[in-house]
Amino acid sequence: MVDMAITKVKTPGTLPDVDKLGFGQYFTDHMFVMDYATGKGWHSPRIVPYEQFELSPAAMVLHYGQAIFEGMKAFRTEDGRINLFRAKDNFRRLNRSAELVCIPQMDEKVLHDALIQLIETDKRWVPGKVGTSLYIRPFAIATDPFVGVKVSDTYKLFFILSPVGAYYAAGFNPVNIKVEDKYVRAVKGGLGEAKTAANYAASLKAQIEAKKEGFAQVLWLDAVERKYIEEVGTMNILFKIKGEIVTPALNGSILHGITRDSVLQLARDWGVKVTERRIAIDEVFEAHAKGELEEVFGSGTAAVISPVGELSWKGQKIVINNNKTGPFAQKMFDHVAGIQYGKIQDKFGWVETIAKV
Ligand code: COI
Repeated sequence: MVDMAITKVKTPGTLPDVDKLGFGQYFTDHMFVMDYATGKGWHSPRIVPYEQFELSPAAMVLHYGQAIFEGMKAFRTEDGRINLFRAKDNFRRLNRSAELVCIPQMDEKVLHDALIQLIETDKRWVPGKVGTSLYIRPFAIATDPFVGVKVSDTYKLFFILSPVGAYYAAGFNPVNIKVEDKYVRAVKGGLGEAKTAANYAASLKAQIEAKKEGFAQVLWLDAVERKYIEEVGTMNILFKIKGEIVTPALNGSILHGITRDSVLQLARDWGVKVTERRIAIDEVFEAHAKGELEEVFGSGTAAVISPVGELSWKGQKIVINNNKTGPFAQKMFDHVAGIQYGKIQDKFGWVETIAKV
């Protein structure tokens, strides 16, 4: 385990009502922090009370957006243990995002150890109700007080923890999605596959317009031909066409989803044909017209498995599976959640049991 100082809160916080958690609005008593300076490397790992911190108004992250983050979850099992899901994969992806925005690499073992100690410190905050979990948000930011454009020489890394319920207000019910034809999210060669703040800033205007039109989310098309499907704002997207699971290939502009990877591994394990390739939006509409589009669903850490009931593109709307959750998405959700909550055997080695209360 990493040797680090742990400063505990004087007065532990009151736990929120598990029936009203929503997503990302409550935070636990403590957080993990580590600093970086050129010549010194990452140093001073510590657990401290969750609190505000000081940043120079000139801190480079505020001006040039050198910021990366991750999202992962820990689950309370029926018998009170805590299961952490695929954390090592998230830390690998954090380092990949770091590389893309020139943030120095972190020791993934240190990150993993630190996370286990932080969850252990705040384990009473891991909610116990099915459908709830502890959302883990690691993030790193550039802190040099300097307004010229360059790579920062100092950084801070944090882990904060938030007990959560479902990400979408609709819960596990199908969402309606607008296929975005005006704005684009990312382009190959850019930052599309990084989990970096800029990608989310780039998504907001389209998201607001879609909300006004009554949609829950937008589905992004490629930025060059405005034709090939990329991802949804907060999740990867998968289609079931004539019994086959088809999803956009990781082409350099979409996020390497860890839940996406879990879904593909499970589907292959069940003997379902899985294809990662380019998919044109008109192909999806044509498959629907021929009665071959059986299901559409998204996958993500926050969203888990989220069925899509309607897709609208340039004013044309298709309704998928009568706007009902399809059997494949249901089975996938039950299976992923079953593994996360320790109810289904994890033959992939995705879950680590880290604490018992
Ligand atoms: C996640 O699924 O963990 C995400 O980061 C998506 C969103 C909450 C930004």
